[in-house]
Amino acid sequence: MGGQAKGSTPFAQKHLLGLADYSAADILYVLDQAKMFREVLDRPVPKIPTLRDKTIVNLFYENSTRTRLSFELAQKRMGADVVNFSAGTSSTKKGESLKDTIRNISSMKIDMVVSRHESPGVPHFLTRCVDATIINAGDGAHEHPTQALLDMFTMRQLAPDLRGKRVVMIGDIAHSRVVRSNIIGLRKVGAEVMVCGPKSLMPLDVRSLGVEVSFDLEEALGWCDFAMALRIQMERMNGGTDLFPSLREYHELFGIKMAHLERYPDFTVMHPGPVNRGVELESDVADSDRAVILNQVTNGVAVRMAVMYLLSGGLRTG
Ligand code: NCD
Repeated sequence: MGGQAKGSTPFAQKHLLGLADYSAADILYVLDQAKMFREVLDRPVPKIPTLRDKTIVNLFYENSTRTRLSFELAQKRMGADVVNFSAGTSSTKKGESLKDTIRNISSMKIDMVVSRHESPGVPHFLTRCVDATIINAGDGAHEHPTQALLDMFTMRQLAPDLRGKRVVMIGDIAHSRVVRSNIIGLRKVGAEVMVCGPKSLMPLDVRSLGVEVSFDLEEALGWCDFAMALRIQMERMNGGTDLFPSLREYHELFGIKMAHLERYPDFTVMHPGPVNRGVELESDVADSDRAVILNQVTNGVAVRMAVMYLLSGGLRTG
């Protein structure tokens, strides 16, 4: 595994394929750098031209709103030249393979590729096809490292030292790449992690990831400092909704409600988006001052700026 900081260089990664390849030191380094970019976003002119000489392609084979806008905004705030590729409007529809697409794009002298794809392992495959730096923006149910980094950044705003902090992720544990990246990252920095959800959406070997498991929302909310609700990933269930009875029953058993906020006054509500109001969160919970969901979105831009800055060599000023 790559990932250990080498010698006097605090950060020596070329790609961000997953948090599995990053050490705790790498993760904390990115999160510390992101604080500076978060401050830039609060300036009247929120720009810092550190990627001015870079060309980046956003290669999105799967739907995305937040992640894609967030990357694009981060790139533009740093002055990069940005090309957007969507599978729906490209030659993919004409049968071109992923390898050919990326080779063609690469002959246009691309420095960095941000990739989202429904198949696990695509970002790793891309590193073998081109020289560019590859950033994984979600590969199937495998990893979504920048999401986990922005989640950890948001937690650290409230709890600067995550060691011993308790984080529960609630919902579709089996199909969530957000869960996988968060489990890996949070455990590396010393947080305690619990997963909670219906048995049918819980991987059999989940305990081997070093997490607590609960099938009881009350127990989970009474235990945690942060509760992250997750969307049910219908698109990864092969068209079947047979893994749980109904959205209404799911909400009854696993939806976070205003009554929970009253009963357990200390935990913070998070959600990677998109939120299905009335399913994983009662609508008022999403809008309450206990939720940091929009803050997660703002922090996402700063974290992605930090990631791209560091992967492009860092330390270059405008
Ligand atoms: C997540 C994703 O795409 O994995 N969303 C996101 O990146 N903001 C979670 C989801 O789709 O439910």
